[in-house]
Amino acid sequence: MATNQSLNHFHIRTIEKRDEKRIWEIRNHPEIRKQAFRSEEIPFSFHRIWFNQRLALDRAKFFVLEKTGPEMLIVGYCRYKPIPQAYEISIAIDPTYHQQGLGSKLMNETPSRVPKRKIIARVKIANKKSKDFFEKNGFSLTRTFSDHYELIKQDT
Ligand SMILES: CC(C)(COP(=O)(O)OP(=O)(O)OC[C@H]1O[C@@H](n2cnc3c(N)ncnc32)[C@H](O)[C@@H]1OP(=O)(O)O)[C@@H](O)C(=O)NCCC(=O)NCCS
Repeated sequence: MATNQSLNHFHIRTIEKRDEKRIWEIRNHPEIRKQAFRSEEIPFSFHRIWFNQRLALDRAKFFVLEKTGPEMLIVGYCRYKPIPQAYEISIAIDPTYHQQGLGSKLMNETPSRVPKRKIIARVKIANKKSKDFFEKNGFSLTRTFSDHYELIKQDT
């Protein structure tokens, strides 16, 4: 079980160009693909275009969680996509590091780093684990669509 002390071995920073390949690895992990709306593998060439657009347009709202020390490694990322009067959040932790409080750390420590707006999460119906995760972290279920849940956190 991760302790507050071991969580201190992970720090949050905004995305950099050098993170391109590691973010691709996490996005393409089979367990992460399964939970995404489009589950097919992402070719690196497609990822590169997406990643460079994100760097150019919303770098300040795209964060990585990095393990510090000699084996420095990005273990997850979180992105706040601006939409009218809100952000849509996208968060993923490398499955090797799940269930250690890392997703919660990233989720709770990043909203204060972006201008205040409500945050919307969209979670596939089959992704019960993530729905629970958002609810435990202060989101409320607002709507259920045929393929996904919409959850909102008002006060950020
Ligand atoms: C959703 C996601 C980011 C959660 O990441 P995570 O790092 O596993 O999250 P946490 O560890 O903070 O919380 C998950 C569980 O671990 C528990 N936990 C928290 N701290 C813990 C600790 N120190 N030790 C053990 N378990 C802990 C939490 O209570 C929670 O328990 P639950 O499964 O009973 O609800 C991750 O599952 C993921 O990447 N999913 C795929 C992508 C996705 O679906 N994203 C959401 C849509 S954008």
